[in-house]
Order: sequence, then structure tokens, then C-alpha cells
Amino acid sequence: MQTLLIKNIKQLVSATKEFPDKISGKEMQHISSIENAWLLIKDEHIADFGSMPEIPSVTNAETIDATGRMVLPAWCDSHTHLVFPNSREIEYTDKIKGLSYEEIAKRGGGILNSAKMMQEADEESLFQDAMERLHEITRWGTGAVEIKSGYGLTTETELKMLRVIKRLKKESPLTIRSTFLGAHAIPLAFKSNPDKYVDLVINEMLPEVAKERLADFVDVFCDRGFFSVEQTDRILDAAAHYHLKPKIHANELDFSGGIQTGIKHKALSVDHLEFTGPDEIQALLESDTMPVILPGAAFFLNLKYAPARDIIDAGLPLTLATDFNPGSSPSGNMQLIISMGSILYKMLPAETIHATTINGAYAMGLQQELGSVTPGKRANLIITKPIPSIEYIPYAYGENKVEKIILNGKVQ
Ligand code: NIG
Ligand code: FE
Repeated sequence: MQTLLIKNIKQLVSATKEFPDKISGKEMQHISSIENAWLLIKDEHIADFGSMPEIPSVTNAETIDATGRMVLPAWCDSHTHLVFPNSREIEYTDKIKGLSYEEIAKRGGGILNSAKMMQEADEESLFQDAMERLHEITRWGTGAVEIKSGYGLTTETELKMLRVIKRLKKESPLTIRSTFLGAHAIPLAFKSNPDKYVDLVINEMLPEVAKERLADFVDVFCDRGFFSVEQTDRILDAAAHYHLKPKIHANELDFSGGIQTGIKHKALSVDHLEFTGPDEIQALLESDTMPVILPGAAFFLNLKYAPARDIIDAGLPLTLATDFNPGSSPSGNMQLIISMGSILYKMLPAETIHATTINGAYAMGLQQELGSVTPGKRANLIITKPIPSIEYIPYAYGENKVEKIILNGKVQ
């Protein structure tokens, strides 16, 4: 057995012997942590922790002295599209000149642009490029990530993307969950008959995805100009036959009904949420669905900001994720998302930490395994550089506060 002992930890954050599945409302302001602590890791899991005066004597342990440093659960990024063929900075220039996300999409840009390049992309370079992105987000402290398909939009190419994600799961030390997002955009060939594309997703793609066990979840971009509530309903009904739980792109561009549709189908999460009012909040309160906000996309596209404060103040939990993708959020840096959550969405530092750890784990169905420093959970942890306080994490935006990352009990 491999044993790792971290001692003299200035603050061990999110540490409790039992941890709730998610943290909601006012509770998000409080973080249980221990000052001047030790932490014991055995093989891949957290074994125990306590305060320094009671440190146990452990033989044959590798030891890390964390004087001045904090230890936290590694970030759980519950929404990305990080398998993609090329960057899209040309569109970005169009955007700066004043074209909207929807106008760019209508001209065959946006998601369809990535889909065109994806048809040609070879599996090996998609894998290598995505692996490089995984290395990069690990440096910024991410330990678990969800990755979606959705730049294929043909059966063959959707499967190609999902196979790349399957290989990433095997070869990367990160904990990865995969989501089938065949209903990401209507391909040009189906423009005059979008329902035909929905038929293809249901009758051809879903059975293949299920047969090869390529996805943990299903997603639909349920929003104005993309997929309607009726189309989303049909896809989610079909996905339920294969026991694929939904995670929905909802209410980014309008009060689309996406949030309520996701909840109706017992979605694990509804994501984006720029258009969230009292009705949507009430529906969320009556559900187990996690609201997920993607500050990077709202920042990059100059959208209005989702009402994070209203959501939390209503007593709901909240998750923040990167949406890492080439069109609307070309960064997987969770520390930047934490700063945005705090600065743009008025979330308190403690709220941003819960929103990127335990609540992010919940949004991937990983809350029993990750997201807090709890004995028995997988040892995916951040050791920070020497920093003065937890508040310093959102405050010092732009700086990488991570010194070391531990994944599955091993220093990376
Ligand atoms: O989450 N909103 C829909 N899909 C992605 C955008 C992907 C793209 O533009 O390539 C998103 O922002
Ligand atoms: Fe997205």
C-alpha cells in the first residue's frame, strides 16, 4: 500500500467526516475547514485527517510539508466541449465587429463550423489535442471533468468524438464523464426539416451510443433557434429507454422552457441559465436538478449574467463550470471561473468554492466519490502555493494559485 502524509497544512478546506451530496442556499457561505492540519492518503483514497497536535506516526509514508499552503478538493468541471478540431478566432473577430452568436450560427459559423472541421479530423490528433487540454486544465487544478460530443452531427462523427472521450477516460488520470450531445445544432442539410434530424438522433445515433456504452449522459441545446421543447422532449424520452440521464443546455438565449423541460425529465443539471426568472427558480426548488452557470460563455459572448444571487438566495445549490469550447468559452481555467463567479455574479468566495467542488461533482453524479476532503473519497486534491487566505483564490485572478495537484493519490 502506498501512503502519503501531508503535514503542516495551513488550512484543510472542505474537510468533514461526512459530507452532504450538494450544498445549497445559505449553507454555501460556510466552509468547514481545519487549520494547522494533516491529511493521510492511502493508495487512491483519502484515509483520515486531523489537526497537527494529534498527528499519528505513520511508517513508510511519503511526506509532504505544506507549511503556508492550503489543501482543497480538486475542481470538478461539470460542463465542457474540450474535444474539438480547431480554434475559431475568426468568428471571434466577427463578434467583436458586432455580429451576435445567433447571427454567426445562421451563416453556418459557430457549432456548424466546428462540425465541418470535425468530419475531416482524424481520431489520433483529436485525442492528442484533447489530452494536451487535459494537461493544461490539470495545471489549473481540475481533477474531474465532463466532456460532450456535439461537433459531429452525423452518426459516424458523433461516435468518433465519443470514442475519443472513451480513450481519454482510459488514458488520463482525470476522472472523466461523457455526454452525448447529438442535438447541439441542426446541420445545414436538415435546415428545412429539423424534425428529420431529431429522428436521426433518436433512431440512429442513440441506439449506437447505447450499444457501445459511449456516454454517461445525454444533452440537448434547448433554446431559441436550436431545439424546441417538443424536440427536446422526444429526445429525452428516447434517451430514458437507455437510462441516459439528461444534462441540458437551457435558457442561454431566451426563456426557452429548457429549464422546466430538463426538470420534467429529471435532469442531473440544467446549464447556462441566463434567462432564469421566478418560475424557473420555483421549478428548480421542486426538483433535484442542479443549476449550473457558465461564466466564461457569458463573459466571452457579452451575454447578460445569469441571476446567481437569486438562485442561491432562494435556497438552491449552484455550480460553476467552464464550458471550455472553441466558440463561446475558449478556456478551461476553473480559477478564472471562480474569480468571475465572485466578481461578476457577486458570489462570496466560499460559495464559489462549493460551486466548483462538491456541487460540480453532483452535476456529474460523482458526489459520493469526489468534491470534498472526506475519508473514503478519491484523493483528487490541490495543494496551493503559499497563500494568505481562501478569499485570495478568487481575488488574485490571473495568477495560478496551484502548486501541486494530486490525482488518485499521486502527485502529478
Ligand atoms: O455551451 N450553447 C451551446 N453550445 C456551446 C457553444 C459551442 C460552440 O459555439 O462551439 C456552449 O456555449
Ligand atoms: Fe456548452
